[in-house]
Amino acid sequence: MILYQAKDYKDMSRKAANIISARVILKPNSVLGLATGSSPEGTYKQLIEWYQKGDIDFSSVKAVNLDEYKGLDKDSDQSYAYFMRKNFFDHINIDLNNTYIPNGLEEDEEKECKRYDEIIESLGEVDLQLLGIGTNGHIGFNEPDTCFAKGTHCVKLKEETIRANARFFEDENLVPKYAYSMGIKNIMNAKQVLLIASGKSKANAVYETLYGDIRPEVPSTILQLHKNVIIIADEEALSVVKEKGLL
Ligand code: GLP
Repeated sequence: MILYQAKDYKDMSRKAANIISARVILKPNSVLGLATGSSPEGTYKQLIEWYQKGDIDFSSVKAVNLDEYKGLDKDSDQSYAYFMRKNFFDHINIDLNNTYIPNGLEEDEEKECKRYDEIIESLGEVDLQLLGIGTNGHIGFNEPDTCFAKGTHCVKLKEETIRANARFFEDENLVPKYAYSMGIKNIMNAKQVLLIASGKSKANAVYETLYGDIRPEVPSTILQLHKNVIIIADEEALSVVKEKGLL
């Protein structure tokens, strides 16, 4: 794992955008695995700015997202499909036909998970998988569990995740209780993983990701087994690592 220390959220976002932009410049038809949440918002903003300046071309890029809430329509303003359009896709020249996200409205879980795994497979290798991290170490919506999920699956969200994500909803009761998520195997198959973390609330999860025992109870610890992981964390997110004298 390579750790880049960032000063703050802005610095983290800029560093992450630099890595993604380099990837797309070097390989214009890259397959990008993308994430939602507040962590990548600044990264997308920076990439949009560079796109507008003419520095990056997304016309041949394919994008596959990690997850989607079950029960939300792609046009609902809380859906991850809507988030991606609003915060990224609508502002760059990516072909929307080359963007993929689980269908939150599909009731048949088996059918949807199979469909999404087939899409991931058909795209070939994901060149770069961007990840945020939950306060409990979840990646995508792979919640703490007793085993690592392999492929796309339907997850019952943990109370703490619902609480953490409630800030995007009018009311905590409106946060969906289930989500479709890529599995750990899908994530581990990416050629490169780029995990970004900002703020004190992520400090323990970042410490566990870097130094914890590898266990499904803290899903991000599995990344220690991946041979090409970059973590960009800001000062607050690295505070536990520092307190323990590891930096
Ligand atoms: C959600 C998403 C994750 C994301 C996490 C952290 O649960 N499914 O992909 O990494 O939240 O979100 P944030 O970046 O807003 O802290």
